[in-house]
This record gives sequence, structure tokens and C-alpha cells, in this order.
Amino acid sequence: MVSFFTAIGGFFVALWSILTSFLPFCLIDISVEPVVFECGNDKYCIVWETSTKGSGYVKYTYNGEEKVLWDERSGVIRTDDTVHKVVVPKEELQGNAYKVGSQYVGFKYGYSASKGQTVESEEYNFGGIEKEDDIKILCISDIHYMEKEMYKSLEYFTEKPDLIAYMGDITSELTTKDQFADYILKDAHDLSGGEIPVVYTRGNHETRGEFAAQLIDYFAMETDEFYYTFEFGPLSAIVLDPGEDKEDDHVEYSGLVDFASYREQHYNWIESLDKSEFENGKYKIVFSHHPKLDNHFGKDWTQPLKNLDMDLIVGGHYHKSDFVEGELPIFFDGGKINSTNGCWAASMMTLKDGKIHMLTIDNSGNTLLDKTINA
Ligand SMILES: [Fe+2]
Repeated sequence: MVSFFTAIGGFFVALWSILTSFLPFCLIDISVEPVVFECGNDKYCIVWETSTKGSGYVKYTYNGEEKVLWDERSGVIRTDDTVHKVVVPKEELQGNAYKVGSQYVGFKYGYSASKGQTVESEEYNFGGIEKEDDIKILCISDIHYMEKEMYKSLEYFTEKPDLIAYMGDITSELTTKDQFADYILKDAHDLSGGEIPVVYTRGNHETRGEFAAQLIDYFAMETDEFYYTFEFGPLSAIVLDPGEDKEDDHVEYSGLVDFASYREQHYNWIESLDKSEFENGKYKIVFSHHPKLDNHFGKDWTQPLKNLDMDLIVGGHYHKSDFVEGELPIFFDGGKINSTNGCWAASMMTLKDGKIHMLTIDNSGNTLLDKTINA
């Protein structure tokens, strides 16, 4: 009798799954197309959003074999979210084509699930191929909702970047997941087309709001934090996450941050980095939303970076284009220069012939900075 009821139950579950594939409330759409984020030396994470919750997968062919990698945790495919994250080995994605896909999942019961439509993206031809030299890095920080001005400034850069340094304060707060999807994800896709690796560094404004504590769940850095290292051909990079710009007891944070502990943990991680890891890097660059770190809440974060022979720190936060000479020079990449007159600036860094060229152009076509240093 048990097997009879099991069979009947299975029949109705299968019938329900077929029916729900055609029901309007079981449809699903890709609402934000995919972004490929740098996460470390060995892997990327691909992130996209769908109109309703469901599963997520990435599909590509590698060495003649079709691969399907799922958004899963410890073997269980996630179905309870509209934002999907799939971790992919770098060597399998570089120079390869991929699609993302999702299926509507109404609810996953103990012994069945109600499922609906499956949707797949177009095929993206991903780059990420590590060149030997002449690496172009588009630097974007502090958009702060000035997307229109940002895209205008990009019209003055004619060369396609190999990497996008996406250096924080894309939004001014992260109170909801929609702000993450509609700004951080969507802008990253529009900038990269899903085909250029994006190096995300967290801005201090992205630590603000109800959703901010969940942001890390949608990345897959090797440290499980927002700071990490990665290599791209001759580029050896450190990505930092210096946190908020005021003391933890500042009224704006409502007593709900503990950056004092986080900074200590972060500083210890920088100190633990081994110089030998960076020995092969022809260009050694630090990416940090907040790039002025010589007295970061009483501590000189630049000293361990100097010990690693880093060439340059690049970041935003100060809403200006500037270059500061020193043992470890700083490049401020622009961003929201002036919201009153609508001035916004992007930068391109070119790593070539042992030199680092920095070029900043605003949305009126003015060159704000044109500087070359030896690496
Ligand atoms: Fe900032």
C-alpha cells in the first residue's frame, strides 16, 4: 500500500511540475545579466539576478565536455533566492563561452518540489585571458547613482579594458537586495558585458544598511572576506577592504559596526602575506576603495605593503583625480567629482613596458590626470 500511495503521489508531483511550467505565476526571467567577479588566483564567481526565486547554473564546454555548475551549498542547490552565484575554475572559463540559467522553484518540500519555467541567457564570450604585457584596467569608483555621467565619460576611452577595477561606493547605501542587484550588479554587467573580469573592492557606503551584512554571501573570495590577492599575467594584485571612514561609535552607524576588530584581522592578514608570492609580478598594485592608508585609525597600513614592494595603491573615496608621490604612490581615480555641476570621471591604467600609465577623463572630455610611473 505504501508503494501505491508513493506512486500516486509521484504522479501528481510530476503532473503539477508539467502544469506549473506553463502557469503565469511560475515564469522566471533574467532581470540582471551575469557578472564575472575576480575572487582569487584559481576561481571566478558568476552572479546574476532573476525576476523570481529559483535555482541557478552556469553551462559551458571544457575539453570537449559539457559542464553544468550549480549555485549550491554543500551539495544542496539553492532555490530560495533571486540572486545566484556560481563558482567557476578560472582555467575553465578564460577565453571560453558560457551561459547562465535558472528555473523557477515555488517551494522545495521534504519529498518533492513545485517547479516552473527554465530560462537561459544568451551565450557570453568571456575574455580573462592573461596577457604577457599591455594590460588595460578600467577604474571605476564612487558612482553614487551618477550612471548617466559615468557612461558619458567612458565615451572618451576608446580601448577595450582587460580588467575592470570596480572600486566601491557604487551605491550610497545597501538597505535592500534590490540596491545590490539594480546598481552594483547591473552597472558591473553594463560595464563588462559579462565578458571582462570585474575586480570588486567594497566601498564604505556598501557597509551601510540592512542588506550590507549579506553582501559577502554573493561573492566567493578565497579569504571569505572582501580582501584577497589575485594575479593576471604580470600583474600581482592585493585587494583591500579598509571599512568605514569614521570611528565605530559615530552616530551614523547606530552602534552596529565592529570595524575595530575587522581592521585588526585585516591588518594581520596583510602582514601575513609572503613577499615570495609577489616576486613574479612585474606590476604590483593595491586596489582599495579608501587608498590613503598611512594612518588608518592610528595604524600605518602602507608599511607591510611597502615590505611587499608594491608599486602603487589605486582607489577612490575622495571624489577627486590625483596622484601623490611617495615610496608607495597613491592614484585617486576620480568618480563623483562634483554632483552639483554633474562632473564625474573614470580612469584607465595601462601596464606596459614596465611602466604604469594613469589617465583620468571626465564626462566633458577634460583630461584631469595623465601620469606615467615606473613599476
Ligand atoms: Fe567612500
